[in-house]
Amino acid sequence: MTDPFQRYLRAKRTVDDRALDRRLVQTLRGRLGDRAADTDGPLRVLEVGAGIGTMLARFVDWGVLPAGDVRYTAVDIEAANTAAIPGFLREWGADSGVTVTDAPLTVKTGDRRIEVETVAADGVAYAADADGYDLLVGAALLDIVDRDGLPTLLGALAPGGHYYFPITFGGATRFRPRHPADRAVEARYHDHMDRKPGGDSRAGDDVLDRLQRLDGATLTAVGGSDWVVRPVDGAYPADEAYFLRHILDTIEGAVREVTGDDFDALDDWLASRREQVAAAELLYATHQLDFLGRATRGV
Ligand SMILES: C[S@@+](CC[C@H](N)C(=O)[O-])C[C@H]1O[C@@H](n2cnc3c(N)ncnc32)[C@H](O)[C@@H]1O
Repeated sequence: MTDPFQRYLRAKRTVDDRALDRRLVQTLRGRLGDRAADTDGPLRVLEVGAGIGTMLARFVDWGVLPAGDVRYTAVDIEAANTAAIPGFLREWGADSGVTVTDAPLTVKTGDRRIEVETVAADGVAYAADADGYDLLVGAALLDIVDRDGLPTLLGALAPGGHYYFPITFGGATRFRPRHPADRAVEARYHDHMDRKPGGDSRAGDDVLDRLQRLDGATLTAVGGSDWVVRPVDGAYPADEAYFLRHILDTIEGAVREVTGDDFDALDDWLASRREQVAAAELLYATHQLDFLGRATRGV
């Protein structure tokens, strides 16, 4: 049976596809393409909080990684997630005409050959012992890890290496149609994020501030990547109804943890939101930011 969180990460893919700021993607593609593979050697990518590997698939689908050899290190703190990466890549490869082979895990398409290493570890601890990477990626990550670890993460980059932190939660969880408890639910849900170690319902603003001021790295571009999930022609696209149910379950767990049994409106709010998903009537929007930048020297 598919792990519920891993199914959520799969379902999130089409939501992220719509949301990611294409200007930043295009800039990143151009910069990676400017490398001279013959003299610079294989491109080295470190992805922290890689989940089941959807960003790697997207980089291939969108032609972000340059031609030639790539060494891609995918780190996640949950061993179950890194263990799911080969299966996800094989399934995606079969659907999209990309060759995926094992031992070592390798993605081959056209003139690209990407060798993938999966590592179950804390990303900041891993980065502390790493250096020389050309690209550091952390998607939907900086709102859940302690941002004091940012300089350590960036220290894994070679001088001139790029960082890309898309889908950083920026402080809005909105639903339509309106419900009288919307504001109270949102406040308690964000309160739960703020109480978690490393969590921050305004992480996007904090990351912007920190990257803007960081010594040894420049912030090249910032873009919005708001999630908007809505039915199209009477149904949610792909597996996005599951995505919404998972979001509602997450909100339920978080709000109950904060309020115990002291928040009478929650049951009615959840029941109507779940009915609206079943009837393909619920609209959901969040605010997020993408960040792209570059190490100018050792961070
Ligand atoms: C919201 S998910 C995003 C996964 C993936 N980047 C994506 O967008 O599909 C966050 C991921 O970060 C991982 N994670 C959380 N804290 C981490 C840490 N300190 N080091 C490495 N991975 C971490 C989680 O296990 C989870 O897979």
